[in-house]
Amino acid sequence: MTTIMQRQIKIFDTTLRDGEQSPGAAMNLEEKLRIAELLDEMGVDIIEAGFPISSPGDFKAVSEITKLVKNASVCGLARAGFKDIDRAGEALKQAKRPRIHTFISTSPVHMKHKLNMGENAVLEAIGASVTRARNFTDDVEWSAEDATRTVPEFLCRCVEVAIHSGATTINIPDTVGYTTPQEYFDLITMLRAKVPNANTITFSTHCHNDLGLAVANSLAGVLAGAGQVECTINGIGERAGNAALEEIVMALRVRKDIMPFGTNINTKLLAKASKLVSNVTGFPVQYNKAIVGKNAFSHESGIHQDGMLKNVETYEIMRPEDVGVNATSLMLGKLSGRHAFKDKLESMGYTLEEAAFEDAFRRFKDLADKKKHVFDEDIMALVDDEIIRGQDAIMVKALKLETGTGIKPTAAMTLSVHGEDKSVTATGDGPVDAIFKAIHEIYPHGASLQLFQISAVTEGTDAQAAVSVRLEENGRTVTGKGSDTDTMVAAAYAYVNALNKLLVKREKQAPEALTVAR
Ligand code: KIV
Ligand code: ZN
Repeated sequence: MTTIMQRQIKIFDTTLRDGEQSPGAAMNLEEKLRIAELLDEMGVDIIEAGFPISSPGDFKAVSEITKLVKNASVCGLARAGFKDIDRAGEALKQAKRPRIHTFISTSPVHMKHKLNMGENAVLEAIGASVTRARNFTDDVEWSAEDATRTVPEFLCRCVEVAIHSGATTINIPDTVGYTTPQEYFDLITMLRAKVPNANTITFSTHCHNDLGLAVANSLAGVLAGAGQVECTINGIGERAGNAALEEIVMALRVRKDIMPFGTNINTKLLAKASKLVSNVTGFPVQYNKAIVGKNAFSHESGIHQDGMLKNVETYEIMRPEDVGVNATSLMLGKLSGRHAFKDKLESMGYTLEEAAFEDAFRRFKDLADKKKHVFDEDIMALVDDEIIRGQDAIMVKALKLETGTGIKPTAAMTLSVHGEDKSVTATGDGPVDAIFKAIHEIYPHGASLQLFQISAVTEGTDAQAAVSVRLEENGRTVTGKGSDTDTMVAAAYAYVNALNKLLVKREKQAPEALTVAR
């Protein structure tokens, strides 16, 4: 009997760093902590928690996540400059398993136009940065930004210097999503064969999705010998995003016959993670998205339904429960008490502080009064809303609308702004316009509306509306979310939530390409 040795692949999640870098995906501290906690519970090996030098908020998030995480390594990103590395080291001070991830561009186009550095200067920066990072931790990852457009011989020299200086993981990013599976397979194979001591470190994939090949390229990298995959929940990230964690993990699981690799991921938490990240960022998951899309396990055509009834294997390569998708469950009603509500929250993985619990319970009772059936999805939307808005400096206190045929839509609005209540009445071209104008009058700002989107949390005319509002101010984009059985109230919540996110984002500066500041 032959036993195939299964290689264990490390899952490096960068939802909180590369994912958060995507326009409109800004998250506050509370949201980042919730995501980190779930990633840890799910079995992610390394959580890239942020870019500590980029803002005090990122620094705090990384350091708070180190205190919360039980099993995963926590990683902070740093450019090749000493200031970046020292800041990352400082943020990771309390981590049980700290990792510093330092990077520099290695492609001709980036070195010339972005860094204004020649090959020797880049090699020197690699040696210095990795050595510096090793002063803080033994777990140092080095990345060659734009590796897939780098001259192969030069890339080999860069990797050699990084290994020689003490890097333990070498990441080969396809920064602009340019490579193809065969080419990426050949690149990792070549590096493993040619670079001295390549067998002493772990190679890592980091593929962007500009050509829709991020997952395929990452798997090709694994087949070529990479031992770590960098990815994000729902594939969020710069431009077209990163490789989607759920797709990588399920592809490895479902096609073990040709990819004998294991991961530590509890796949039953994938759907929950997808929902959480979508709720927090306000980025909806497309219906036909692999693994976690609403339609990923639904069979509409008669031929498919007939086959499924005869044997699920006719059209199903994995079971919905494997990824945590369960039949929609009917849950509490208006007679349910505090105890039942608390039990339900706990079974869904929520633990709320006393005040937040009381607020959530009050909103649940209101909802149960308005809505015949209250589903898990309703509870999730309600509690997420509570948590999302719990820390907001600006809050909706009251809203009264007058609208209809032949009436100029009018919104009477009260907001609490840094603890002080302010009220106005405003008119608009429609009810949404009136609401947004009222908010603008109370809290004047220069942000412009980029997106206004409504979806239903569950089926039926009494479903809660989930509204996303994307705002842009001076090149910064944020997405706010709100949900309520009243679509207009949800719209007000979402707009105000986006404004709060802009307040947080104003403090965060976009880091420059590189200043090798020693
Ligand atoms: O895409 C990329 O090159 C990156 C690096 C910082 C690893 O995100
Ligand atoms: Zn990236």
